[in-house]
Amino acid sequence: MRRLGGCIAIALAAGLPACGGRHSSAGFSLPQGDPARGKEAFVALKCHQCHTVDGVPDLPSPTAEPRVPVTLGGRVPHVKTDGELVASIIDPSHRIAPTLHPELVSRDGKSRMPDYAEVMTVRQLADLVAFLQERYRVVRPGQP
Ligand code: HEC
Repeated sequence: MRRLGGCIAIALAAGLPACGGRHSSAGFSLPQGDPARGKEAFVALKCHQCHTVDGVPDLPSPTAEPRVPVTLGGRVPHVKTDGELVASIIDPSHRIAPTLHPELVSRDGKSRMPDYAEVMTVRQLADLVAFLQERYRVVRPGQP
């Protein structure tokens, strides 16, 4: 309920009609993924070239130069939704802040993360999300 309230407040403040527009995540769901296959897809698609994953020490080492300082998984202040992860994977430039993190973007201002639209299957996407979801741990601010 709090989420919905926040959504309406933001929509009102921004002068938007409502929260149910076509870019809303309402109704979004992924097929059940398999974390073990997700780990295989992570290596097969070479995600490890730029990312380490919290709690998964046996991935091949990152090779990207300059290094990409984005570790996936680990402590987060709120639950990562499947929708957030999917957006990060298939549309990596959707919410990037180049001024804050110049090392994350290429010269054209886009994410350095490759476009997987032509190479990733939906099955791999669902499996990757299942794999990564297992690695995130919600820790409220102030908690150890
Ligand atoms: C060439 C480097 C590179 C490769 C390869 C790469 N990424 Fe990324 N990734 C990035 C960068 C840079 C960011 C941070 C900026 C952004 O969000 O685009 C990022 C961000 C992310 C995020 C969001 C992290 C967060 O906490 O906001 C996820 C999830 C992610 N990548 C998953 C993947 C997966 C899955 C693959 C393989 C299919 C992959 N990445 C391959 C560079 C890469």
